[in-house]
Amino acid sequence: MPDILVTDDGPIRTVRMNRPEKKNALTLSMYDAMAAAIEEAGTRGETRCLLIAGTPQAFCAGNDIGDFMQMAAQGGGLGAPILRFLHALARCQKPLVAAVAGNAVGVGTTMLLHCDHVIAADNARLSTPFIALGLVPEAASSLIAPKLMGQARAFSLLVMGRPLAPEAAKAAGIVNTVVPAAELEATALSAAREIAALPAEGVLIARRLMRGAADEIVARIDEEAEAFRQRLTSPEAREAFTAFLSRKK
Ligand code: COA
Repeated sequence: MPDILVTDDGPIRTVRMNRPEKKNALTLSMYDAMAAAIEEAGTRGETRCLLIAGTPQAFCAGNDIGDFMQMAAQGGGLGAPILRFLHALARCQKPLVAAVAGNAVGVGTTMLLHCDHVIAADNARLSTPFIALGLVPEAASSLIAPKLMGQARAFSLLVMGRPLAPEAAKAAGIVNTVVPAAELEATALSAAREIAALPAEGVLIARRLMRGAADEIVARIDEEAEAFRQRLTSPEAREAFTAFLSRKK
């Protein structure tokens, strides 16, 4: 079974992270597959809405930490597939809906800041432990989060690494609706269908006007990526990655 499942059901394209044994931690090939699915949806006339989902126990545990170790060892920054994915999210022209169950860590949370409508299960937990991992925020979260939820809440999330429970994520403006876990998929699909049933041109125009040009967001993604590249080889990052990979359960 592929790590990323892309399915088209009429106007709705679902992009599902499907590596449950690793809590949907993202590898470079997964980023590439997600980026391709989002880019292609942009030109696929039939697609009116994308739905990003994980598996019942986890939305996404963030970047694969083994991959981070490798990137650090090679002295490189965020791999090209990661930037391709982040740019695809920022430049996506079609509405993005997300269905979040379980942990959404790192990019699992920051990708939600690019979505137009987010449904969270009552077991969802959003967290971005970038600083504790020796890293810095990515995916233009340093730009979007303070605008969305204010500096104090964004600082608590992005710098202090305090997790958000679903209701707090709703209060912060990241999540629209919190539902029992068993109702997550149906609720998210119903929201995607609701969007897809609206006049398509009106949705695209309104969304574009509301978001403005993606250039500022893309520029911030690139600026953060440069800082991230420097932090990936920091002693704090090496220590945190080693501790995670050698932890005893
Ligand atoms: N990279 C690589 N492997 C990961 C991973 C990641 N980001 N997140 C989870 N995994 C792996 C675990 O190592 C474990 O593998 P194993 O069964 O071979 O030992 C498996 O996924 C299950 O994870 P586990 O920690 O047992 O699940 P959990 O439900 O107890 O905890 C998390 C889930 C997400 C809270 C926890 O796995 C975690 O903190 N992961 C790291 C998140 C992170 O820091 N990401 C980077 C953000 S920038």
